[in-house]
Amino acid sequence: LANAFQGDDKPLMVSLALSGLAFSATYAMIRWLGPAFIRAGFKGVDMSKHARREIPECMGAVCAAVYLFAMIVFVPFAFYKDVVAATSGGGNRDVVLQVEHVQQGRFLHRFPHSKLSSYLSAIVSLHTVASLGLADDLFDIRWRHKFFIPAFAAIPLLVVYRVDFGVTSIVVPLHLQPHLGQLVDLGALYYVYMAAVAIFSPNSINILAGINGIEVTQSIVIAALLACNDALYLLTPYPHPATDSHLFSLSFLLPFLAVSLALLAHNWYPARVFVGDTYCYFAGMVFVVVSILGHFSKTLILLLLPQIFNFLYSTPQLFGLVPCPRHRLPRFNARSGLLEPSVTEWTEARQPNRVVAWGLRVLGRVGLLRVVMDPKDGGRFVETSNFTLLNLWLVWRGPMREDRLALEITAAQALVGVGGLFVRHSLAGWVFRE
Ligand code: UD1
Ligand code: MG
Repeated sequence: LANAFQGDDKPLMVSLALSGLAFSATYAMIRWLGPAFIRAGFKGVDMSKHARREIPECMGAVCAAVYLFAMIVFVPFAFYKDVVAATSGGGNRDVVLQVEHVQQGRFLHRFPHSKLSSYLSAIVSLHTVASLGLADDLFDIRWRHKFFIPAFAAIPLLVVYRVDFGVTSIVVPLHLQPHLGQLVDLGALYYVYMAAVAIFSPNSINILAGINGIEVTQSIVIAALLACNDALYLLTPYPHPATDSHLFSLSFLLPFLAVSLALLAHNWYPARVFVGDTYCYFAGMVFVVVSILGHFSKTLILLLLPQIFNFLYSTPQLFGLVPCPRHRLPRFNARSGLLEPSVTEWTEARQPNRVVAWGLRVLGRVGLLRVVMDPKDGGRFVETSNFTLLNLWLVWRGPMREDRLALEITAAQALVGVGGLFVRHSLAGWVFRE
């Protein structure tokens, strides 16, 4: 780590300085631009408050803009040493000279084009997904239609991965090695898997949403844990083969943490702005970019466990087995000022079919759902809580204030994430020979 700060290129120092500037710029611009966003129609009603005020929405667009600007400004700093080395002494200018140099056995610095292409492909992917988020905030695109777009945004990343790294095999756990061998090559399937991660990460953050601050805090936890994971590699006393990719990852995560913290200052309870889908997609894609280009997409999966749970738990509503209202956020009880689980109502005319009814009863019995049956007619469903982690948490822990719920979910996520990283780094040696 010390090297990264003290080396003559000092890219991490520059990244930290740019992150500081990005924090201030985002903080100030969100404040200043609020009224302009409302005039442009980017606004939403905070549904969990007594006074149902309209506040600016889509402030993630400010984060994305400042972030991308910072990353573009960072390019010459990140490659400063390479540019100087490659252009001094006629290195890149004169092919004849280069050949002579090589013939005379002199060292020639080759510019790391592959590193630059990783970098630029990451920026292209993030740009694409930020535009998608913006379009969604403008037009409220149906989720069926927007679901796959992040996979297209990931194409540049996958191409660079193919050319640059191209590893498509996974290490088999020690106990299975006698049967499967040391490595299993997934081939093209590995790209399908990475595209699936690219689809999942942004969408899963967007559906673990609906209370002040939660979209941002979950992203900050993931980014911070990924950054800690990077730091672990950089702190090893010997140069690790993965040092470069973790430095790369850190340079994308630090500015992201900066713009997210600035957004959180405005979005935390009681929120003065909403983040919009732009932020959720953008955040999810930042994780995809660093984990694919840093070659640690499986570590990302560990950090997305709460989102994976929320998605799997949501499937009955996402796939239409249970009606899915436009909003599933917890219900605000104006009398107590607390949040309660929001529900799907089952009318006499609309009752679940036999299989779904059985499933709902089982979930109710094991405490994974609140089910209310008609006291007069025991076979008739009156209401079931909506299938989100936030509602389930309220079913378990009882009504609570919005900020308390956000804090508890964030703390639980941080615990699960730290546990995941612990498993990754300590127990992995037992399952895989490191
Ligand atoms: C996703 C969820 C939806 C949830 C919504 C809340 C799925 C399939 N979709 O939809 O159930 O209700 O996010 O973000 O799970 N809002 C608040 N308080 C907040 C945050 C948002 O009241 O702290 C409301 C505001 O009215 C805001 C709106 O939610 O305008 C934003 O919803 P949007 O992000 O457009 O919803 P989706 O992402 O489509
Ligand atoms: Mg959303």
